[in-house]
Formats: sequence, C-alpha cells, structure tokens
Amino acid sequence: MKQQLIYTNHIDEAIEQVCSTIEYDRCFVLCDENSSRCVLPLLSSPRIDSASVITMPVGEENKSIDTLSMVWNALSEQGATRHSLLINIGGGVVTDLGGFAAATFKRGIACVNIPTTLLAAVDAAVGGKTGINFAGLKNEVGAFAEARAVIISTRFFSTLSHEELLSGFAEMIKHALIDGEAHYNELLACGIARCDGEAFMSLLQRSVEVKRRIVEQDPHEGGLRKSLNLGHTLAHAIESHALAHNRPVPHGYAVAWGLVCALILSHRLYQFPSSIIYDLARYVYNQYGAYAITCDDYDEILQYMQRDKKNKGEHINFTLLRNIGDCVVNISVERKEIEIALDFYRDLFYL
Ligand code: GLY
Repeated sequence: MKQQLIYTNHIDEAIEQVCSTIEYDRCFVLCDENSSRCVLPLLSSPRIDSASVITMPVGEENKSIDTLSMVWNALSEQGATRHSLLINIGGGVVTDLGGFAAATFKRGIACVNIPTTLLAAVDAAVGGKTGINFAGLKNEVGAFAEARAVIISTRFFSTLSHEELLSGFAEMIKHALIDGEAHYNELLACGIARCDGEAFMSLLQRSVEVKRRIVEQDPHEGGLRKSLNLGHTLAHAIESHALAHNRPVPHGYAVAWGLVCALILSHRLYQFPSSIIYDLARYVYNQYGAYAITCDDYDEILQYMQRDKKNKGEHINFTLLRNIGDCVVNISVERKEIEIALDFYRDLFYL
C-alpha cells in the first residue's frame, strides 16, 4: 500500500506536511454539511483556508450518482485540472464518494482523506475502496484508488454520538478477531468509553495496521483481503432487509450481528470455540441490542446474501475463522447451514 497513514491529533501540521509532498495547482475540499459545520472551523490550515470548499448533503442516501455529478461539476466549473488535489473531510460517505470523484475526474487527481468518524478512520478511508451506491445496491459502482495519505485522529470523536462510535467499534472488533487473541481481549476491555484518550489512539492505530498489512498484500481483493469481509455477508443482508422494512440500522451494528453469525458458522464448520461466541454475543447484545427477525425473514435475508457482489454464481461466500487470528476465505456455505446459524443467532439474542 503506497498510501501514507498518519496518526496524529495535530491535524493542521499533518495537512501541511502531506500537502507539501504533493505537487498540485489548486486545492479543493469536499465536506458534508456536518463536517463543514463541526470540523472545518476547528482547522486552521492555510492549505484548507485557501481551498475551494464543495459541500455535499449528509447521509448514505446521498452517496449517489447525483451527488457525484454535483462534485464533478463543482470541480469542473471551479477550474480543477488533472494536477489538482481533493481533500475529503468527513465520514465514510464523504471519503468513498470523494475518493471516487478524485479517481475519475480527468482520469484521476490526487486526494487525501481526513476521516472524522471512527468508522471512516478505522475502515472506509483506508485501503483504496471508493464508490457510490447505485440501483439500490451499496457500493455498486466504484474503483480501487488509494488516497495519497490518510490523516487519522481521535480529535473529532467527542462530537460523535454513542451510536456512531459503536458503529466504528464493530469494525475494530472485526480487525481484532482477524489479528489475534491479545488484541481482541485488549480491545473489548477498553471499549469506547474513553475514545479520545491515548490508549484508544493506540488501539485505533493497531486496528488500522491490521487492515494496512492485509491491503498491502492484496490491494484488489484477489484473496487475502476477503478476510476483511468477516461478518459482512450477513451485515449487508441485514442492512438491505432493514432498509426495505423502513427500520435502517447503522452499518457497524449490522457488522456486530454479522460477526456473531460468522462465528456461529465458524463453529459449525471449523470448531471455532463456542465460549468465545457466547462472550461476544453477550457483549454485542448489551452494546448493540438485537436485530429482530423471525424465521419468516430468512428467505428475504438469503436473497440479499445471494445478490452480494462478493459471490460467484449461486454460492454464498463467507469469510470464517478457525480461531481468533486464523481466517479462512471463500467458504461457500449451504443455505441450510445459514438457516441454522440464524436460528442460533435468534437464541443468543433472545428473539
Ligand atoms: N472494508 C473492507 C475492505 O476495505 O476491504
């Protein structure tokens, strides 16, 4: 991974340092209404002050072709060239859409990500997956295109809701499960109570480094990178199901439930230790609650899984664990097994 990762709460200095290494003619900043109101005023960087700011509406529903077109238009009308720089400041929607705008405008301009949510800092802004939602499907159109640098800080986390913090924390649990037992135990012991302290910054760095190591070896998801999809086969299906039933859930919540189901499947297929599943299920239930389903929802959930772009043909592919730190990818799981895992999930979550 060529992308430079900078962990710091001295963001103005980091912006100066990063920008001085990139040759560009004009600088643009992409924000959403939240980061424009809450984050821009906290920065005092001459690079940002002299940039043209493009503001997009907040929310996943705006990770769309219309917003992308608005950003292309703004770049074009304000004289961006192929030597211009785009700095994306915001959560995952901004870094995903801004990254894709940068990857495609004049066949690609340089960009830098400054994630402002935990979810974006630990996952979305790092590793070069960019894109938009299209035709009702998440991240249906996009490109692998790394930002030149990602400036990762805990400085904005105090402005996040508990729900937003928990959402990002689920991706940290995923990274820790992929990494190893010591990391996993430390993370769950720390939690999100003191998310702007030094201990949390060091756990955040450790978490992002898990992703960095994997992406470095497999940037285009030929194999190893699929380990980062742990929990996501079910998570994406839950998100789609939740949306269709007018009860949208935050991405990280769906990941937390999806991780428990992935561990249940891992137990059935690879004897993953059941004691860890019980402990994680209790933790997830206490922190994230439960996503209520009955067996009448199984068909629909399985259909969403089938449509996931990670599948090939008819098979539903999972990333599973033999144990904490021991991942297996491309595991095709039969429908019956998935239904049994959903039964177990409902038992563990009192549904
Ligand atoms: N979010 C998983 C990945 O970037 O591969």
